[in-house]
Amino acid sequence: MSRTPSSPHVIVVIGAGPAGLAVVNQLSQAGHQVVLLNRDCKFGGLAEYGIFPTKHRLRNGLRKSYREILSRPNVHYFGNVSVGERGHLLLDELRALKPGALVVATGAQGTKSLKIEGENAVGVFHAKDVVYHYNHLPDFSERPFHLGEHTAVIGIGNVMADIAHWLTQFRHIPRVTAIARRGPAERKYDPKEILAVCAQIDRSALTAEFGRIGTALTAVGQQPDAILAEMLDELAACEASASTSILRFHFLTSPRRVLVDDRNYVKGLELEEMALAVRDGDIAAVGTGRRHEFPCDSVIFAVGDCVDDTLGLPVKNGTFVTNPHHTRNQPDDALFQAYDPSTNLVLDGVFLGGWARQASVGLVGIAKRDGDWCARVVERHLTGKPAPSAGAAQATLAEIRRMIMSRQPAAIDRDRLALLTLAEQEEAVRLGATEFKFATNDEMLAAIRQQQA
Ligand SMILES: Cc1cc2nc3c(=O)[nH]c(=O)nc-3n(C[C@H](O)[C@H](O)[C@H](O)COP(=O)(O)OP(=O)(O)OC[C@H]3O[C@@H](n4cnc5c(N)ncnc54)[C@H](O)[C@@H]3O)c2cc1C
Ligand SMILES: NC(=O)c1ccc[n+]([C@@H]2O[C@H](COP(=O)([O-])OP(=O)(O)OC[C@H]3O[C@@H](n4cnc5c(N)ncnc54)[C@H](OP(=O)(O)O)[C@@H]3O)[C@@H](O)[C@H]2O)c1
Repeated sequence: MSRTPSSPHVIVVIGAGPAGLAVVNQLSQAGHQVVLLNRDCKFGGLAEYGIFPTKHRLRNGLRKSYREILSRPNVHYFGNVSVGERGHLLLDELRALKPGALVVATGAQGTKSLKIEGENAVGVFHAKDVVYHYNHLPDFSERPFHLGEHTAVIGIGNVMADIAHWLTQFRHIPRVTAIARRGPAERKYDPKEILAVCAQIDRSALTAEFGRIGTALTAVGQQPDAILAEMLDELAACEASASTSILRFHFLTSPRRVLVDDRNYVKGLELEEMALAVRDGDIAAVGTGRRHEFPCDSVIFAVGDCVDDTLGLPVKNGTFVTNPHHTRNQPDDALFQAYDPSTNLVLDGVFLGGWARQASVGLVGIAKRDGDWCARVVERHLTGKPAPSAGAAQATLAEIRRMIMSRQPAAIDRDRLALLTLAEQEEAVRLGATEFKFATNDEMLAAIRQQQA
């Protein structure tokens, strides 16, 4: 339902994932002219290139609602356009155009490093890259991911569960081990999400693992038998699987070194054994100094991500810096305002939403809610600010389009996006597949040209 624009501004949103699209939804409904710039040709972010490929209902439902938002006449989409030091446009160039607001909703595109020796060995990967690969995101879709017979996945969250799903049932890697620095009670994956791989879990190895770590659990008041029973209970309704791959867990260990052979290929991990301690009411992992070698021939870090520090915003501890001076507003404006700690000033008119604000936190619904909140903060920022005349707003829109097309003639605007969608749908029908995705930008652009011809 469109609200009548009393004073429409031009708003620039960077990133067409769930958070950016929620901002676009709210601000376009409020009548503003919204320009949406997106690195990927296609919209959706991790909803398109993260959510596991077999979750068709979820993905299609999201695509449908995103298409409706993008079809609005006051929404101006440009895919295949990157903002940042390595992109087509600098953030400061966009700010110089003086939009009513600039929203950064670029997700968590940086790679979190554990800074351990051997991290650059052949056979070490980061979960985001693997996820992008099996979801056919150009640049990652065609990279070879050489995995051997035994992959160690570091981390025990939902991303680990997705990666294990792909490794065991699509790549048929014979052995996969999930390595957790804390214990089984601190597992972060959702019981629902483990069902896709639970047929692969080696139950007797799990029971034996509880024997190995039982004393460490009781030391912090946990009851190993009860935790094991709960875990086994969660594994009662496994999804059917024809794979013979085995998934095991290795708790209370943290990687300290990737061990390599003389060709710099992974041959194992040096793991530090951890103890548990209660800290501020939470359970923390504490190094014991004891180390052991763990043989494996590939490693995937599934430990969360950080933001892209080349975007043009100040970054601290893997996140964009936000205003430390809180407001009493609900939601608190400060949490969404970009901030420069070198000048102690808010970056006026620059806002953050979704995983760009809180890297690797929460599901699509959480990112959407964050985008909704961000839009409310933006609306508050615009209250009382004189809006440009209709002519001036059109001139700003025309200037943004001119800048984009001069830097990136292969930008995907709404018309090209419609042709791309059509081409992929036709290809899916031709192949009798549930869905089809072109694996490279060149293929997408060629398909658009073919549709135009
Ligand atoms: C592997 C995985 C599986 C998941 N599965 C589920 C699931 O099953 N269910 C669920 O509810 N949630 C799931 N999630 C969580 C969900 O995907 C996220 O909560 C959500 O996508 C975050 O939204 P976002 O818009 O903040 O970021 P993103 O989705 O990452 O979107 C960021 C957008 O910004 C664009 N961008 C990035 N950099 C630039 C730049 N420099 N210039 C221009 N554009 C840029 C990207 O192209 C992208 O479109 C999953 C997450 C992961 C990692
Ligand atoms: N199917 C789905 O619904 C789905 C799929 C994928 C992702 N998601 C969502 O996306 C978000 C991100 O998921 P995620 O799995 O990346 O994150 P996560 O749930 O935070 O799990 C990260 C894992 O990595 C470990 N870890 C972090 N830093 C580490 C370090 N320095 N050394 C060793 N281990 C470390 C964590 O251990 P500690 O607990 O000890 O910190 C945890 O086990 C979550 O909100 C998740 O629910 C959802």
